[in-house]
Amino acid sequence: MAKGKLRLDKMLGHIGYGTRTEIKQLVKAGLVTVNGKVAKDSGLQVDPYNDEVNVDGERVRYREFIYILMNKPAGVVSATEDLRDKTVVDLLAAEHAAFEPFPVGRLDKDTEGLLLLTNDGRLAHRLLSPKKHVPKTYYAKVAGRVTDEDGEAFARGVRLDDGYVTLPAELRVLSVRQAPGSEPEWTSEIELTITEGKFHQVKRMFESVGKRVTYLKRISMGSLRLDERLALGEVRELTGEELEGLLNYGGKEATEGCPRR
Ligand code: URA
Repeated sequence: MAKGKLRLDKMLGHIGYGTRTEIKQLVKAGLVTVNGKVAKDSGLQVDPYNDEVNVDGERVRYREFIYILMNKPAGVVSATEDLRDKTVVDLLAAEHAAFEPFPVGRLDKDTEGLLLLTNDGRLAHRLLSPKKHVPKTYYAKVAGRVTDEDGEAFARGVRLDDGYVTLPAELRVLSVRQAPGSEPEWTSEIELTITEGKFHQVKRMFESVGKRVTYLKRISMGSLRLDERLALGEVRELTGEELEGLLNYGGKEATEGCPRR
């Protein structure tokens, strides 16, 4: 087999055009062309990046990896399968699910916001590596009055309930309000940037200073920001620029010029 070539059915199967049998039927129906000629055989060798493949008149864009930005809603788990709960992968359309992406890291079931899904294991590994300290910023509503002292404590590192002392984190207090009423209660809105990903980390950091997170949303990871135009549960593929930014966080050279890993 020539270098860089793939069977036509494998190429189309990988990007969601159906099973081998279904693709065979598309070819048999004369719906698939390669470089302008109707393909006769679904086992034809094609160069997925350079040959022009059309299905039913539409140009096929081949890629091995997929990078999906999701605005995760509450109520779904960050996993590929779960016996009880709906997963983030269940929210994907067939054309994206065909790539078998998985979530890069976990958000709690009740946490919303930025979640990256990909089938690029190397990028995921680099983004999650504890050595890389990729910053993640969360927006939270907190029951209680968040103070400058909390910010100082987070900057130093706080001891969580299991004894672990967190790495320095940056707290930005956006608002602190007291609800009117006979027993006024404080609520605060904050942004917190952490560079690690311990279980329930943001919630437990606030617990360590006697406060409770009532709403949590991730707004960035490394250079990637949540696209606020995405409604909860919606997804889109990363732009080239967004992908480039992320690759720079984890060692660009590994991906450039290396479509197969
Ligand atoms: N910290 C949390 O407590 N929960 C998340 O989902 C993410 C970070």
